[in-house]
Amino acid sequence: MNIVTTPDPRLRIKCKKVNHVDDEIREMVDNMIQNCLDWEKEHKFEISAALAAPQLGYDRRIIVVREDTEDKNNATFIPLLNPEVIKTEGKTVYDYEGCLSVPSYYGMVPRPTKARIKAQTIDGQEVRIKADGFLARTLLHEIDHLNGILFIDHIKDVKDAFYRLNDKGDLVPVDYDKDIANNKDLFPDED
Ligand code: NI
Repeated sequence: MNIVTTPDPRLRIKCKKVNHVDDEIREMVDNMIQNCLDWEKEHKFEISAALAAPQLGYDRRIIVVREDTEDKNNATFIPLLNPEVIKTEGKTVYDYEGCLSVPSYYGMVPRPTKARIKAQTIDGQEVRIKADGFLARTLLHEIDHLNGILFIDHIKDVKDAFYRLNDKGDLVPVDYDKDIANNKDLFPDED
């Protein structure tokens, strides 16, 4: 299984609702979790916080979110089906975001600090989540994926917003003209 990366058009579709959970859906969820774990084995400074179905090429409204994003030894992920943003609250703050589908780069992305989310569990139970901070940011990022939106779409001032990890695991700003400006995978429409 390979992670789908930009500019693959499968990242740009509006995914279909999951109407009932069958073996096919359960297999998608298992593959999503396994891919998160496989990916982070090769990325020692990073943790897989979450993944959305289109990142494996699945056209379904499914996300998996890590139970504890502070602990790489905790490999538990919570699957959420048909997650929807009920409302967002709080002020808008900028923080780093990365995405397995946007390899190598991190960006400073504006998001509201709080979000109320509605979804179904894999057992068909309806859940409502009152999220703030990093969890709110993560859920909003993943729900965006189901609507064909990537974090880079939220960045207006692209010249100062991008970072890369150096070999010590620190995020360092990238030189826009030498790096991002020539990356046609990231910004295919720019000159
Ligand atoms: Ni992502």
